Amino acid sequence: MRLSRPAPAFEAGARIGEYRIVRLLGAGGMGSVYLARDEALDRDVAIKVIRSDAPVSLEILERFRAEARTMARVSHPHVVRIHALGEVDGAPYIVMEHVPGTNLAQLFADKGRLFGVAQTLAILDQICRGTSAMHATGLVHGDLKPSNVLFGPGFRIVVSDLGLSRRIGAPTTTWSTPCYGAPELFDSAGSQPELAPRIDVYSIGVMAYEFLTGQLPFASESERILAAYEARPPKRPSEVRPELGAGFDAPILAALSSYPSLRTATVDTFRRALEQVGVAASPTSPPLRILVADDDPAYCDIVRRTLARSFRGALIESAPDGASALASALHIRPDLIVTDIDMPLMNGVELVAELRSRPELADVPVIVLSAVGGPADWSLLERLGANAFVGKPFDAQQLCSVAHAITG
Ligand SMILES: Nc1ncnc2c1ncn2[C@@H]1O[C@H](COP(=O)(O)OP(=O)(O)O)[C@@H](O)[C@H]1O
Ligand SMILES: [Mg+2]
Repeated sequence: MRLSRPAPAFEAGARIGEYRIVRLLGAGGMGSVYLARDEALDRDVAIKVIRSDAPVSLEILERFRAEARTMARVSHPHVVRIHALGEVDGAPYIVMEHVPGTNLAQLFADKGRLFGVAQTLAILDQICRGTSAMHATGLVHGDLKPSNVLFGPGFRIVVSDLGLSRRIGAPTTTWSTPCYGAPELFDSAGSQPELAPRIDVYSIGVMAYEFLTGQLPFASESERILAAYEARPPKRPSEVRPELGAGFDAPILAALSSYPSLRTATVDTFRRALEQVGVAASPTSPPLRILVADDDPAYCDIVRRTLARSFRGALIESAPDGASALASALHIRPDLIVTDIDMPLMNGVELVAELRSRPELADVPVIVLSAVGGPADWSLLERLGANAFVGKPFDAQQLCSVAHAITG
């Protein structure tokens, strides 16, 4: 059934409820997403409305409201957060956190080349963690693909567009995106409801293949159908890109099995398999990875040299500000972070808070090394989860013994 009135399109400055539209951020198959300002709370939000150029049916309206309810059930740093569900002239809209940045489809298009393996794995790892959180809540995403994954500041990856998600066990819709959608979504017989999480395993498998090799496993939907009919897997990733080595072949092909019953069972299993290959494939496996964040290059250098003498063979990276420290931390997964407090873009206190809000970095030992800050700052830092404090100018012996103590 169609509703006679088309959904509205919004100009900059227009209001939706208590939000003021700033600009269009993007549009997908179902919705248009706008950047808007929540003037009461003085923050940016993203507002999703139903596309204005598509016919609106009651089914679409209901699916849209269901998307909002699904978002409300999951709370995880790698899944987009919902603030509210509203309605304007009978058309629902979703108010959610604004993730400044871009989506992965756009990111890869703009970049024009692949990320390195470590960065690619850091992206996939976060997609897996967000998706696992959905599964743990009893939900399947159902439409994972690069344009539905947001890339925010500090290398934060956020799974979004929960418009096709549903409870595990609910019947599957046949509406999904070719190439990324699992084959059983296009098969009218569907699959067993308890295997539904494997729909997301497949889609993440396609992204892993694409991000690592630069190619989709099958160039077109018809090629994929033919391959499934002939029980033929895609080319091995290492055949497409030999420098990857053969390690990724088995886990990725297992995630891409056409048959849900033969596919990798959980997103978490897939995530751990990728992680293992990543560790084994890393050219050096140094005993310790250390990240030093300080905007003063001379100081950074002294800290690095001090730690290098004490931790032989360690890989020590430095970052000139808090934001790049966070990006590096997500990338290299350090065993120890030594950070200054007063830094541009993101200070040490904010950095500690950001690190602790991410499950994958929540346990990394952090030493705060600073000339500024007194007991009040330090008790705040302690509550945020910093492990130790060393004042500047520092005593080399003290810094090293603290570092050895907290890295165990
Ligand atoms: N919370 C958000 N913050 C920033 N950009 C977003 C946000 N949500 C969506 N977008 C942008 O809008 C595009 C379309 O949103 P999406 O939810 O995927 O809509 P559709 O259901 O129509 O596919 C995304 O690809 C992304 O670029
Ligand atoms: Mg989308």
